Amino acid sequence: MYDRLTLISGRAHPALAQEIADYLGLPLGPVELGNFPDGEISVRLEHNIRGRDVFLVQPTGPPVNENLMELLIIIDACKRASAERITAVIPYFGYARQDRKDAGRVPITAKLVANLITKAGADRVLTMDLHAAQIQGFFDVPVDHLYAGPILDEYFQSLRLPRDEIVVVSPDEGSIKRSLQHVSRLGGRLAIVDKRRSSATETKQANLIGGPIEGKTALLFDDMISTAGSIVGAAEVAKAHGAKDIYISASHAVLCGPAVSRLREAPVREIVVSNSLPIPPEKRLPNMKIISVAPLLGEAIRRIHRNESVSKLFD
Ligand code: R5P
Repeated sequence: MYDRLTLISGRAHPALAQEIADYLGLPLGPVELGNFPDGEISVRLEHNIRGRDVFLVQPTGPPVNENLMELLIIIDACKRASAERITAVIPYFGYARQDRKDAGRVPITAKLVANLITKAGADRVLTMDLHAAQIQGFFDVPVDHLYAGPILDEYFQSLRLPRDEIVVVSPDEGSIKRSLQHVSRLGGRLAIVDKRRSSATETKQANLIGGPIEGKTALLFDDMISTAGSIVGAAEVAKAHGAKDIYISASHAVLCGPAVSRLREAPVREIVVSNSLPIPPEKRLPNMKIISVAPLLGEAIRRIHRNESVSKLFD
């Protein structure tokens, strides 16, 4: 069914890679991965990939540098083993928030990482919910950019929330476009939280633009929950403005630093996230719903391999 398609995984998220393999009905290609005593990563492809169309699954979430380096080294191994084409499947692209010079004398690390991936030998990139869509242009190879939003919305639709009770509350100005897409699929209207960031882990939110939301069901969507300051702060604003029920949702559950304790205390009914990143058992809260993006990624891989249109999956 798949002529010369090979799916392999790094150590970042083998469970997702296995789900994608199951979707495609393919075995995962065996790869021996380890570390030398000094911490250097060792890789050996344990099967012949000469002339194969290789898809390598490796989100670059925490530990970001380890996962990124492993991605680069596996790409190099594939290139030197004469793969015909190598697609880096990066469901979560780390370093994406360092995408511009917003202060003097700082790097644009998202561009550096894109250069590294391309230079290592990736012929294409398949990714999902980049922090900023224009990061696609940092790569000098084709990028297929998927969105988890429609899949998260299928879950919200299954809850049968009355459309006239829904207010999609954008947790900051940067999420307005995404929030409007959710409004178009789920109904309701838009409100916006005025967020000011004071440091990498702290945000301040107070005002709500587009209220009142008293007695409404507030749905908050962000691209990622990292320390959870943004989304929990926004949920607290929604609560203070009288929202009856609050759901928070994000494509990427990075969940670092104080995230889990913040989420545990948050005034929310459910936390709905995708499995673009692994979520260890100790971070899975009882009100957390994890939605699989394996079918979306698997279908994109199927279409890329067969040179079929992928754009249908973009939104
Ligand atoms: C910000 O621009 C992003 O869209 C997220 O809101 C932010 O990066 C999430 O980070 P944290 O969870 O640490 O507030």
